Amino acid sequence: MADFSHNGPIVILTGAGISRESGLSTFRDSDGLWAQYNIEDVATPQAFARNPQGVHEFYNLRRRFMSEKDIRPNAAHHALVRLERDWPGGVLIITQNIDDLHEQAGSKNLIHMHGQCNQVLCSLCGDVRHSPGDLFTDHICKACNQAGGLRPNVVWFGETPYHMDRIAQALVGCGLFISIGTSGTVYPAAGFVDLVSSTSKARIVELNLEPSKGANQYTQAYYGPASEVVPVFIEDLLALCDV
Ligand code: APR
Repeated sequence: MADFSHNGPIVILTGAGISRESGLSTFRDSDGLWAQYNIEDVATPQAFARNPQGVHEFYNLRRRFMSEKDIRPNAAHHALVRLERDWPGGVLIITQNIDDLHEQAGSKNLIHMHGQCNQVLCSLCGDVRHSPGDLFTDHICKACNQAGGLRPNVVWFGETPYHMDRIAQALVGCGLFISIGTSGTVYPAAGFVDLVSSTSKARIVELNLEPSKGANQYTQAYYGPASEVVPVFIEDLLALCDV
């Protein structure tokens, strides 16, 4: 591992690859979700306007799969919890994932920039609440008592991800940026590495199965399954900084 001699804040971006070994599909691998579904049919506001029940069904299947298969965090999620616990400079995880595996593992300082699959958002009153079961078009919002406004609390293509101001602030102030398990194809997350490298002297590290689209911008990269590469990297990092 190259020298990393200060204990500044760490920002970690995670993508679908970190949850792959827990049993969840990625999006763009050959066996990924976008090989089975068209984005335009299930993951845009226009798709929801055209066919709300079809979109609900896509997310109902995702939620059912997670509970029926008893999907659990893997060693990579757990290693990030250890880093958050032991790193003196603060750790923020920004995840593109809509699963709750970081929370299940015990991560606390976490931003779901693309929302969460087990939450429902009322587009009529703005209420957001935990809702792990199936969602249907005739369901009534528990806050405003109206039907027709409920949708999964996920950010679709064409919508703005959550907490972008807080994310930008964390990125420009970090001492180390680690990208884990993302293909680097979806903006704004794909642009985070640019922002970090143009605004700070932070080290930028990629941990992925294979080089991502932005691989040439990383100062260090380690390739392999997340459950192997992430724990080793985290242990080395903590040992190097003697914490
Ligand atoms: N360990 C580490 N990385 C892995 C593993 C693994 N076991 N398996 C696959 N990967 C890598 C792939 O090589 C790929 O680079 O994870 C990455 C997954 O990329 P995508 O499928 O594009 O997922 P992601 O980058 O998270 O997608 C971003 O796209 O459709 C949207 O909203 C969705 O949040 C998602 C966004």
